[in-house]
Amino acid sequence: MSQVVNGTDVSPDHLKALYAPIDVELTQSEEILQRELRNEHAAVDEMVRYGCLLGGKRLRPALLLLTAKALGVITADHLTLAAVVEMIHTATLVHDDILDDAVLRRHMDTCNARWDNEASVLLGDYLFTHSFYLASTLDSTYACRTIGKATNVVCEGELRQIRSCNNFELGEEEYLEIIEAKTASLCACACRLGAYYADASTEYVEVFSEYGRNLGIAFQIIDDLLDVAGNESSVGKSLGTDLEKQKPTLPLLHVLSCLKGTERTEFVNALVEGSNGHEIMKSYLQRFQSRAYCLEKANVYASRAVSALADLSDNEATRILLQLPEFVIHRSH
Ligand code: IPE
Ligand code: IPE
Ligand code: MG
Ligand code: MG
Repeated sequence: MSQVVNGTDVSPDHLKALYAPIDVELTQSEEILQRELRNEHAAVDEMVRYGCLLGGKRLRPALLLLTAKALGVITADHLTLAAVVEMIHTATLVHDDILDDAVLRRHMDTCNARWDNEASVLLGDYLFTHSFYLASTLDSTYACRTIGKATNVVCEGELRQIRSCNNFELGEEEYLEIIEAKTASLCACACRLGAYYADASTEYVEVFSEYGRNLGIAFQIIDDLLDVAGNESSVGKSLGTDLEKQKPTLPLLHVLSCLKGTERTEFVNALVEGSNGHEIMKSYLQRFQSRAYCLEKANVYASRAVSALADLSDNEATRILLQLPEFVIHRSH
């Protein structure tokens, strides 16, 4: 069923339609995931399959494959790397759900809820290490190097975020740096790999990386908005954990910037005590039009993503890459 927001269809079906130019190759990379994530021990097999094979938007493999197609032909290396970036992404989610005490992911129980934190730490490790093993099967070492660096930056972003919890004075610049690291670096990496393995010039590798980086920043701003104002049944994951963990995300930073004196102190106290912070936040979001503020910010980065591809020659895959930022902004899942 279509679901139209500001002229953009934001339903899961529409995302599938956007992936049409890479439909066959996404299925092939999915088959690689299924083949790779098997284990001879039934208990391990159940976990690795559960962790990676169920649902998700497959945005990072799609970015990698669309980039490759926009520039030329999708090769066997691209298919392997599409599986690799999804595995890395899933590993970060498995670990992130432990950090956030989340119970719902991709409309299912999180691994930590279904099993426990101990097993989930190891499952995340398994996915990380397997993805590097798989990347190392390519002749060129560029992928391993690039993914190693990007994954490092993701962890750096998650670490910076953990250290910023409770810091209600965090500046918007620092927030943007954190989300660029934890989310945008892997999107940039997916596009970079798509371009590099399509034999693109250094200039184009950078252009696509820039596209992915800006798209990733817009994506995380919207994710942070969904966390405070989204609907759990359409998003399919635990929401509200950012406030519970006192993460200074953009909607919260905006509300805080609009509050002064006693009102601000009372709100911060409610957040710290974990009392009725959610309810108060909802009313402040309305009062200060924080949703509009976040959408405007996300739009800046979505526009930059589109601008990055300005000189690209027109084809089916390029057209989809140009539409994805709009989808990211208005998505409800
Ligand atoms: C969730 O990513 C984590 C963030 C970076 C916000 P996605 O929203 O792409 O998760 P899946 O893969 O679709 O489940
Ligand atoms: C985590 O950000 C992004 C990662 C790098 C895993 P979030 O904590 O906002 O992701 P969700 O909302 O749980 O998917
Ligand atoms: Mg989380
Ligand atoms: Mg989130």
